[in-house]
Amino acid sequence: MKIAITACSGRLGSATLKALCAQMDAVDVIGVARSPEKIGIPGIDKRAAAYESPDDLAEALAGVDTAIMISAPTETGSDRVRLHANVTDAAMRAGVRKLIFTSVIGDAAEPGTLFYPSQKVLRDSESGVRESGLEWIIARNGLYLDLDLIQIRLAEETGVYRNNGGDGKCGYISIAELGFALAQLARNDACNGRVVNLTGGSLSQTELVSMANEVFGINVAYEAVTPQQTMDKFAAKPAFVARGEEVIKMLAGCFECMESGKFDVPSHFSQAAGRAARSTRQMMEDILAAQA
Ligand SMILES: NC(=O)c1ccc[n+]([C@@H]2O[C@H](COP(=O)([O-])OP(=O)(O)OC[C@H]3O[C@@H](n4cnc5c(N)ncnc54)[C@H](OP(=O)(O)O)[C@@H]3O)[C@@H](O)[C@H]2O)c1
Repeated sequence: MKIAITACSGRLGSATLKALCAQMDAVDVIGVARSPEKIGIPGIDKRAAAYESPDDLAEALAGVDTAIMISAPTETGSDRVRLHANVTDAAMRAGVRKLIFTSVIGDAAEPGTLFYPSQKVLRDSESGVRESGLEWIIARNGLYLDLDLIQIRLAEETGVYRNNGGDGKCGYISIAELGFALAQLARNDACNGRVVNLTGGSLSQTELVSMANEVFGINVAYEAVTPQQTMDKFAAKPAFVARGEEVIKMLAGCFECMESGKFDVPSHFSQAAGRAARSTRQMMEDILAAQA
């Protein structure tokens, strides 16, 4: 059975390819990327296709049983609905049996938040997958633990980590754990036709920072600030400015959703992955070990 991952040269794609190769023969794994030379996993079948190129996508998905579509980056804006539809249409044309779409968590009360424009793109794309006539799974990912840990560790410089998440809780999950769960979802049909939340244990920002202090040997305090202050913080960092204003709003919107409990959703990780998610502390230790 051939399994393909599209937009696979990034963090989540690489983790999922790695997990698939650990679970099945690498020759049956197909990595699709707009720059296949960037795919760092050896032994797999690497194929070229950008989300803007429907014909290339259909060709790249030829002979595939199950495809995992990694959502296009936020930077591509509302055009993402069309890009995702290109992948869905290509999967239909290529005769793919099952399509898994990676999306984001939420409790459906997000309209009106700074996060909603970005989330709506994903919800609209989910609809396209569900209505495709293919077998489908919508995998709604929790927030990447890895990325917020980077920001917490950088905050050691000032000793204070600030955002507008407040006391709200959120089910963070590591990229490696997401890759494991996605590989399992691709190889098993038990969750077909379902929307699954891939999240770990729920933590507040204070709990997250406190655990990071213990695991990484740092000394950072958490301070709740307003959404505008969070946006100002990101707007002062060239790496975030380069990603654009919409991304900065989306990030403050994530914490806005967290603060109001919208990201504290039930987890379906065990059903998706066939085992419980690793604890947040274990995931942090894994991330630390991977960097050693
Ligand atoms: N849940 C969370 O906390 C969270 C955090 C970050 C992102 N996300 C979402 O999850 C997705 C995957 O995350 P990630 O960490 O793997 O992102 P990433 O490391 O930035 O990788 C993005 C991938 O998308 C590819 N790509 C970009 N534009 C494309 C196009 N037009 N056609 C085909 N491929 C394209 C990139 O290819 P190149 O290598 O050629 O650039 C790369 O493979 C993101 O796109 C975003 O929607 C979620």
